[in-house]
Amino acid sequence: MGKAYEIIRHSYDAVVVGAGGAGLRAALGLAEQGLKTACLTKVFPTRSHTVSAQGGISAALGNMGEDDWRWHMYDTVKGSDWLGDQDAIEYMCREAIPAVIELEHYGVPFSRTENGKIYQRAFGGMTTHFGAGTAQRTCAAADHTGHAILHALYQQSLKHAVEFFIEYFTLDLVMDEGACHGVLAWRLEDGSLHLFRAHMVILATGGYGRAYFSCTSAHSSTGDGNAMVLRAGLPLQDMEFVQFHPTGIYGAGCLITEGVRGEGGYLTNSEGERFMERYAPHAKDLASRDVVSRAMTIEIREGRGCGPEKDHIHLHLEHVDPALIEERLPGIVETARIFAGVDVRKEPMPVLPTVHYNMGGIPTNFRGEVVTLKDGNPETVVPGLMAIGEAACVSVHGANRLGSNSLLDLIVFGRAAARRCAEVIPPQRLHKPLPARAWEPTLDRFDRLRHAQGSLKTAEIRLAMQKTMQNHASVFRTGPLLREGMQRLGAVMESFQDVRVEDRSLIWNTDLVETLELENLLAQALVTVASALNREESRGAHAREDFPERDDQNWLKHSLVWLDEKHRVGIGYRPVHLYTLTDEVEVIPPKKREY
Ligand code: FUM
Repeated sequence: MGKAYEIIRHSYDAVVVGAGGAGLRAALGLAEQGLKTACLTKVFPTRSHTVSAQGGISAALGNMGEDDWRWHMYDTVKGSDWLGDQDAIEYMCREAIPAVIELEHYGVPFSRTENGKIYQRAFGGMTTHFGAGTAQRTCAAADHTGHAILHALYQQSLKHAVEFFIEYFTLDLVMDEGACHGVLAWRLEDGSLHLFRAHMVILATGGYGRAYFSCTSAHSSTGDGNAMVLRAGLPLQDMEFVQFHPTGIYGAGCLITEGVRGEGGYLTNSEGERFMERYAPHAKDLASRDVVSRAMTIEIREGRGCGPEKDHIHLHLEHVDPALIEERLPGIVETARIFAGVDVRKEPMPVLPTVHYNMGGIPTNFRGEVVTLKDGNPETVVPGLMAIGEAACVSVHGANRLGSNSLLDLIVFGRAAARRCAEVIPPQRLHKPLPARAWEPTLDRFDRLRHAQGSLKTAEIRLAMQKTMQNHASVFRTGPLLREGMQRLGAVMESFQDVRVEDRSLIWNTDLVETLELENLLAQALVTVASALNREESRGAHAREDFPERDDQNWLKHSLVWLDEKHRVGIGYRPVHLYTLTDEVEVIPPKKREY
């Protein structure tokens, strides 16, 4: 079957899949070091989902008061509910400082303090002196920080001669004997198929928020790299941990940045009560996202939601100086007006916890190398394969990510991956010949879906999956609810056998693109629910009402999950790294959380 397609071949030192913040930072770093680099992306680089990141990027610069990367590390470990790997967290928080200064030098137009330094705002869970004070650590370009970073990185990548392959949809990894040797991609513009050989493939394909009905993610957030990894017989890690951002616009799901609360905004229920004071007396509205999302859900459940249906919460900015809103939060003024019909200077915004981020993903070490559990070794590196950004589970966020640590993760580990490539890819190395069996199964799958003649539309199956995820793997979970979710998802996956693709062409066939994306989403949805059912404790964003306590005795470990061709799930574990890279900081031992 595969032989019917002509394949155009390319050779590179490194191929980056994805051109969001992580992909561009890696591609730029690779090209700066003289490695022949291709960057493949299904959307134009500056349309990648990073563009919508609002509030900022964390780094203990200390521009607005005292700060220390060790305090940042402490907050991140605590925020992760102790599931984060402390070596990787140490690396991220320490490297944050030079990495953000580098961004400034690359031309990112950060907002400024009166004396010309990078402006930094308060964000949830970010403290000074190991929890004693509030840190202003989140470096911001008004409320469009992701947009500013993405444009600067794209310009720098062009300057350093990264070769871009834009609107190329990557179909799969090309694996042989346990190692990755490249990717197979479909060029949407002319329908041609391309084999990219590389000594290192770096997956920077983002999260899979679109598995849910209501999310802040772009339509392109379908976690394609995660699904490629599952198809390659490798595991994903900690997939049960899905972050709900407390303030998605009610109904539309668009993000209203945590920066609103960082600039003095607060939440109220239908009684006008600032209820966060009850749930988190110390951090209040700036408690970590898992805590705020649960509190909002409880308020709504107990009948104190706002509006005629009592189904959302109010976020207030009316008390804040309009000049400050204009300067620091111009984007959300527009978003609230367009998507909620609200003037934030006069009335509250209706908000609801909305799926925002996947803590789980492709397991890696702090250099970006993909790791797996093999022959009892949980740190076995998969040759030729790296993952960075939201696609990866490095794991710096553990069970819950702190706001503004995501842009940081993209930049620090994109940079780290490029540095590692320069160490491990020998100059002028040739590619070994590969058997066609390495990519033919991918062509067969592609061809089968292109000609799928079932009775169900892709959109119908997608909606069934999204509703199931929204109802069965939400802020609060229980065993019976998750079990029913597994059954329903099993049926949805079964129904995918009956999918129909109307457009058989190869040129800009969005019907086929969406079907391939749906297949990717389905695999991730299933392993998410399976991992959530398996983890019988509550930790971070995973709140099991039938197991309400964190259980370090039995569950201080990462979950691994495999999926075979028959959709059978396998579960395994990796230890959490309760060690640091240097002796400049001590391991932060698990303790009960205080808010
Ligand atoms: O609220 C926000 O601006 C989102 C930031 C983040 O997810 O890191």
